[in-house]
Amino acid sequence: MIPRYLVNFDLEDLPGIAFDLVVVGSGVAGLSTALRAARRFRVALLTKTTLTVTATRIAQGGIASALGADDSPELHFQDTIQAGKGLCEEEAVWTLVREGPMRVTELIEEVGAHFDTVDGHLDLTIEGGHSRRRVAHAQGDATGSELEASLTRRLLYNKRLDVFENYYVIDILTVDGRCAGVLGMDAEEGTINYFRAPAVVLAMGGMGQLYPVTTNPEICTGDGVSMALRAGAEVSDLEFMQFHPTSLHLPETPRWLISEALRGEGAMIVDHAGKRIMEGVHPLKDLAPRDTVVNEMVRVMKKLDRDHLFLDATHIPAAKLKERFPTIYRHCLEAGIDITQVPIPVSPAAHYMSGGVVTNLRGMTRVRGLYACGEVACTGVHGANRLASNSLLEGLVFSWRIMQNLPQAVEEGAGGLMRVCELKHKIRRSRLPVEINLLRPFLQQMMMDCVGFRRSRDGLDEAWEFLTKNLEVLQVEYVSPQGFELQNMITLATLMVKAAVLREESRGCHFRVDFPGQAEYWRRHIVFSMGARGVRNELRPVGELIGAGYDWMPVEAKEC
Ligand code: SIN
Repeated sequence: MIPRYLVNFDLEDLPGIAFDLVVVGSGVAGLSTALRAARRFRVALLTKTTLTVTATRIAQGGIASALGADDSPELHFQDTIQAGKGLCEEEAVWTLVREGPMRVTELIEEVGAHFDTVDGHLDLTIEGGHSRRRVAHAQGDATGSELEASLTRRLLYNKRLDVFENYYVIDILTVDGRCAGVLGMDAEEGTINYFRAPAVVLAMGGMGQLYPVTTNPEICTGDGVSMALRAGAEVSDLEFMQFHPTSLHLPETPRWLISEALRGEGAMIVDHAGKRIMEGVHPLKDLAPRDTVVNEMVRVMKKLDRDHLFLDATHIPAAKLKERFPTIYRHCLEAGIDITQVPIPVSPAAHYMSGGVVTNLRGMTRVRGLYACGEVACTGVHGANRLASNSLLEGLVFSWRIMQNLPQAVEEGAGGLMRVCELKHKIRRSRLPVEINLLRPFLQQMMMDCVGFRRSRDGLDEAWEFLTKNLEVLQVEYVSPQGFELQNMITLATLMVKAAVLREESRGCHFRVDFPGQAEYWRRHIVFSMGARGVRNELRPVGELIGAGYDWMPVEAKEC
């Protein structure tokens, strides 16, 4: 049974601090929400380690939007829908592609982000699944770092905003079903305290750390999705963990992203004999959508009994490679690979969770006062397979939209906060010591083996058995972020396995060897929420992801 809170507490005994808004997470979604909200409100920005340790920071390829002369939101819409394999929510996709160009333009004109240009125009590149060059990039392959730096520069001068680093959020506080703040741990001091606020925005990123090979930073353990579920929100589409085709594959070296943009500029995936693997597989060849490329790579690797393939960029002029991909060039060189001379060893790695906390088009979850945006959220934009470089854009577009009714939510909620300090939670906790450092790698390896790129009923049953044996972890009273992370990872792994068992078909990032075809019946989302007797699931047809309970605040023309 998943407990409502991961720790026992009595707020009367804990130090608390009040803000108008708490934003959790400091990637593009969190920073842009905080920046905009702090024009009007007192905002606390909480981040798990330091401001700069985020998935945004290491994003390379860029940000997609229909800004090219030959492009249009309609074309961007079609490409996104096609990549999403029949599971995208069309209204959400329209919102993304129509508002995307405005948000990117603001980023340049108002926030001061510097994107690469040619003759005064954005130098747009192409990535997998795009029919036009529409991916803007910065410093060649350091787009995320430029975005993060420019947003942070603006934010640090804002007197209404306080940043709390090394703060681990354990749970979302609710009073009578309404969000009332967050409970967390000052990770340096090891002490628990709380932030009282009428509105909370979750922008906590993804959960790549559920797998042993991932492009995500260490912090991406799915805490946001797990705590939102415990607080009463709905979560959906968790069977769609996207694997990125090309992560650097070297023994004893952590996986590291090799941007799809390299293929956009002509690099090709080849086998050990130098033969192109995507020739004849898809009309877009190496630039096919990610799920198609990963599937073919896995097939070829299995056939050759190898654990990696190669990305060959040696035919691209060395000067261009060094100028266009300085970060990749440097990183690979330090690892002993000169990408101008030899093909790069690569294999797929867990990269992006297409599902997450269900939100409507204004970032509202089903819990009054609780919003989510960025990778932690499931707006329905990505469907079963995210289109490359749509994620930074989603973070920008939907964080902006949260502002459409945040002022009313803050005003309405403020009155109800008086009773927060009466909040307490006490359940029987197990004192069984579960060795976190042992269980976490076992869990990751089990996820890779049984819930990786290729799944089968037998493997999923094995995963289920492993998880049910370890569910007792959820009852343990941990006193460290590592313990809470493990509890969140076990919670999510359980839901991912459940969704993967239910979905008896193959679609996008979910491939079942025992159900290789796509079934029309499964144009449905698998939505989880907490019920009186534990987690329950519901199947919602595409177009109906947003169920009842999301319109808890009208939109007024009262933006920040
Ligand atoms: C990449 O640069 O290949 C990653 C872009 C993305 O995941 O959208």
